[in-house]
Amino acid sequence: MATVIPIRVTERAQALASEVLNLGDIAIDATAGKGRDTAFLAQTVGPTGWVHSFDIQTEAIESTHKLLVASGLINRVTLHHLSHAEISTALPESHRGKISVALFNLGYLPGSDQKIITHPESTSTALQSAFHELKTGGRLICVAYTGHPGGKEESQVVEKFAEMCEKSGNNVEKIGYTAHQPKPWILVVSRN
Ligand SMILES: C[S@@+](CC[C@H](N)C(=O)[O-])C[C@H]1O[C@@H](n2cnc3c(N)ncnc32)[C@H](O)[C@@H]1O
Repeated sequence: MATVIPIRVTERAQALASEVLNLGDIAIDATAGKGRDTAFLAQTVGPTGWVHSFDIQTEAIESTHKLLVASGLINRVTLHHLSHAEISTALPESHRGKISVALFNLGYLPGSDQKIITHPESTSTALQSAFHELKTGGRLICVAYTGHPGGKEESQVVEKFAEMCEKSGNNVEKIGYTAHQPKPWILVVSRN
């Protein structure tokens, strides 16, 4: 029997993004971290697209900048050294309401200060703002973790946001990764 190698949660989130992302699109990475998701989004939207990438940590912005320069992708990305709660005010007017994908990878930056984590209150604001900036058919993808301190509370906020989106007629999918650590799950909301 063939061995099934489970796809990493972050790879699954990227695959979900690529299903709806085309050349020339505009995307948001709400949590830049080491820049891997930002680079993936920038590669996928191509030279005619644009990515807005957010992080509150200087280290994350620097790592992402370095990766983008090394990959030749820096010219299609705006790095915002800001909380993702500021998404709506940070986007240029011409990009507002035109976002194809907003990607969140919550929690902390692996290998760095685990005290710098996303928090329920700003996550709630950011999810709502990012959703508001999606174009029709655009997709919000959020990887949430329940295994670290504060993770369960933050997951509840993500669940609440999912319920709200479902009630207002949007397509909502939840993908569980219970066998993995630190117990992640993915929320996918497609805007109607
Ligand atoms: C799990 S990491 C993201 C990994 C990243 N997507 C990558 O590809 O490497 C979570 C990131 O969220 C950032 N973060 C925490 N609070 C934030 C906030 N309010 N706004 C934006 N980023 C935040 C952390 O600094 C950390 O870099």
